[in-house]
Amino acid sequence: MKIKVLGSSAGGGFPQWNCNCRNCNGVRRSTLKATRRTQSSIAVSANGEDWLLVNASPDLLAHIAAHPELQPARRARDSGIAAVLVIDAQIDHVTGLLMLREHDTPLPLYTTDAVWQDLCSGFPVATILSHYCGVEHYRIALDGAPLAIDALNGVQIDALPLSSKAPPYSPHRHAPRHGDNIGLVITNRQTGKRVFYAPGLGAIEAHVLAAMGEADLLLVDGTLWTGDEMIRLGLSKKTAADMGHLQQSGPGGMIEVLDSLEAQNVRKVLIHINNTNPILVEDGPERRLLTEHGIEVAYDGMTFEI
Ligand code: MLT
Ligand code: MN
Ligand code: ZN
Repeated sequence: MKIKVLGSSAGGGFPQWNCNCRNCNGVRRSTLKATRRTQSSIAVSANGEDWLLVNASPDLLAHIAAHPELQPARRARDSGIAAVLVIDAQIDHVTGLLMLREHDTPLPLYTTDAVWQDLCSGFPVATILSHYCGVEHYRIALDGAPLAIDALNGVQIDALPLSSKAPPYSPHRHAPRHGDNIGLVITNRQTGKRVFYAPGLGAIEAHVLAAMGEADLLLVDGTLWTGDEMIRLGLSKKTAADMGHLQQSGPGGMIEVLDSLEAQNVRKVLIHINNTNPILVEDGPERRLLTEHGIEVAYDGMTFEI
C-alpha cells in the first residue's frame, strides 16, 4: 500500500497569497530555509494505479500535475483518482471537488452524514456538481464497520469520529455533530500495517490515543506550534482550540502526546502545517526539537510504502 502526501500545508498554503508573516515572506524571498507547500490532501493506493483521494484540496489540479499516477493513462477520459473521501467539509478539503466536475460518470465520494449535509447546504458543492458530473455518495456510517472501497483491494479503512470543528460556514460550527470531523485508520490487510491520519485533532480522546498507539505511521495535526500563535502574530483572533486543532508545544501538546506512545519503530509525522508555524524553518530550533523527539514534518510529495 502506498500513501502520498499531495499537500502538506493547512488552509491557505505556504506561502499564503496575502500573508507577510516571517515564514511566508521568507519563503517568497528565499531568505529562510523553508519549502513551499500546497493545501491539505493525501492519496492512498493498493496497486499503484487506482488511488483514493483523501481530501480534495483547492490545489488539486497542481497535485494532479505533480503526480503522474493521478493522470489519465487508459481511456479518452480517465483518471488515477478512482474515488474521493473527505474527512470534513473544511474549504481546504472540499474545494477541489469542483475541479473534478468533468468526471465522465458521477464522482464516487465518501463522507459522513454531517459532512454531506454541509456539502448540500452551507457550501453546496454536491448540489452544484449535480449539474455537471453528479456525485455518487457513499455514507461513512461511523457504526464501527470498516469501509470497503472498491478501488482499494486489500486495504481496510476505519473512520473514527473526532472532536475538532465543522467549518466556519457550517450552521453547526458551534453545535458540533458526530461526524463533522473524522480521522482514518488505513490498514494494509496483507502486512497488517496501519496508518493513522488526522490533520485536524482538537483533542486526544481515549479512542484516538488507542488508535494512535496501534499505528505504524502517524500523520497527525501539525497546524500550529502554540495555541495563540496566530493571535500573537496579529493575524487572527482564533486560538488553535477555536479552530479544532491541538498545538504541538507545551503541556498536553502534540509532542507530549507522541512521546507518550510506547510502540517502537512508529513513524511520527506532522501534517497540515499552517504557514505561521516555526517548524517550517528547516534549520530553526523548533524543527531541531521535533527531530530530537523523533518527529518528522510532512512535505509535498512525501511517500510511504506500508
Ligand atoms: C483548518 O483546518 O482550520 C483550516 O485549514 C482552515 C481553512 O481551511 O481556512
Ligand atoms: Mn484545514
Ligand atoms: Zn504566513
